[in-house]
This record gives sequence, C-alpha cells and structure tokens, in this order.
Amino acid sequence: MRLIMLGAPGAGKGTQARKIMERYEIPQVSTGDMLREARRNGTEMGKKAAEFMDSGRLVPDEVVVGIVSERLQADDMKKGFILDGFPRTVPQAEALSKFGITIDKVVNLEVDEEELVERLTGRLTCPKCSAMYHKVFSQPKVKWVCDHDGADLIQRDDDTEATVRNRLKVYKEQTFPLVKFYQKEGIVVDVSGTGKNAGGVFDEIQSILDQ
Ligand code: AP5
Ligand code: MG
Repeated sequence: MRLIMLGAPGAGKGTQARKIMERYEIPQVSTGDMLREARRNGTEMGKKAAEFMDSGRLVPDEVVVGIVSERLQADDMKKGFILDGFPRTVPQAEALSKFGITIDKVVNLEVDEEELVERLTGRLTCPKCSAMYHKVFSQPKVKWVCDHDGADLIQRDDDTEATVRNRLKVYKEQTFPLVKFYQKEGIVVDVSGTGKNAGGVFDEIQSILDQ
C-alpha cells in the first residue's frame, strides 16, 4: 500500500498517518519531521530549512526531493509507505513519478480554514516521537508531557497565528493544485475532517483502504 496524505496544514495528515502506520504496519515518511530533525541536529541543511519553515514558506524542491529520494531507497519502504507532507508542489509530484514510484491512493483531508487555525495554534508536539496533542481537543494524560515517552511537549515554532495564516496561503497557491494533478490519475479519495474527532476520521479512512 503506497499512500499520499494530502491536505492543508493542520488537516490531520500526521495524526492519521500515525494511525495508518500502526494499523497497516507501513512506515510514515514525514518531510516536516525529517526537516525538524535536521534542524535539531544543527546540520547545514537543517539551518537553511529553518528560515523557510519559520516564515511558513516551502523549503526548495531540490532539498526536499533529495531527502525523500534517499529515504525511499531504504529496505522498509518495500512493503509500502505513507507520504505525509510530500509531495507539496507539482515539481515534487513529477519528481516522485520520475523515480518510477506508483501511488495507490491519495487521501485528501478537507477541513475548514478557521478550524485549521484553531487546531494549529493549540497543537502540542512531542519533540522526541512526534506524537501530536491539542490543548483542548486531544489533551495528554499529564499536562505538557507526552503519553508515550514522558518528554516535555512543545509548541512548534511555525504554529503562531501569523505563520499559520501564511502556511495556509502557501498551501492554496502551491499544494492545492496537486488535488487536480492526482485526480487526473483517478486515485484521490476526499475525506472530510471537519466536525469529527481523529478516531472518526480514521474509521472513514480505514473503510476506504479496506475496500
Ligand atoms: P509539516 O510538518 O508537513 O506541516 P504542515 O503540512 O503545515 O502540516 P502540519 O504538520 O502542521 O499539520 P497536519 O496535517 O500534520 O496536522 P496534525 O495531524 O498535526 O511541514 C512544516 C514545514 O516544513 C512546511 O511549512 C515547510 O516549510 C516544510 N516542508 C515540509 N514538507 C515539505 C515539502 N514537501 N516541500 C517543501 N517544504 C516542506 O493535526 C493538527 C492538530 O489538530 C493537532 O493538534 C491534532 O491533535 C489536531 N487534530 C487532528 N485531527 C483532529 C480532528 N479530527 N479533530 C480535532 N483535532 C484534530
Ligand atoms: Mg504534520
């Protein structure tokens, strides 16, 4: 099973990708997580990416395509994967097909803009295992502590309202065209993420994947 999670910032790509990974035992490949790890490790690439990420802009295609192409060659990719946050531009999607990789389904998560802002400005993230929580919708058992590994939760640097608004603008201009791109291949499934909890959204995704 080779999947792409598509959707605006905050639509729940990471939340659902983790659930799919647990249920179907295929790895999640999150370019956002990989870039944040490079930043934490202080690599040259990480430092360069930080400038783009903190202002809500996309990291240049050649950088992201380079990281993904390397990751896709790993052994664990053979049984399938979930791409979370990649591709994000038409040139990235074209690069993916040039690698000779065929995608089975594109799960397009649809959520209203105001709900996206509320989700992101209240999100708490585990810097160690990338688990996601929300100050109101999905609280950890102990305030600001990850349920899985006990690490202190953080708010991502790009989850301020101003940066979130810019990320949404960038999404509309550069990533939304991918819905049409993959619709032409007939592999897009639209899933509504508004007004449901993460478990309800996953039930719908699971029923699509099990068909
Ligand atoms: P990335 O890390 O990919 O961020 P994003 O696309 O902006 O998406 P998010 O991770 O913010 O949201 P999500 O859809 O995963 O939602 P989540 O599940 O966390 O990218 C960050 C940056 O890196 C980019 O801006 C760019 O600079 C760079 N980058 C990454 N990939 C790139 C690429 N390919 N090309 C170029 N640059 C790239 O959920 C959000 C919140 O909502 C959480 O608090 C969660 O608990 C809550 N929630 C989830 N589902 C529900 C629900 N159903 N009901 C209520 N709350 C919910
Ligand atoms: Mg994410």
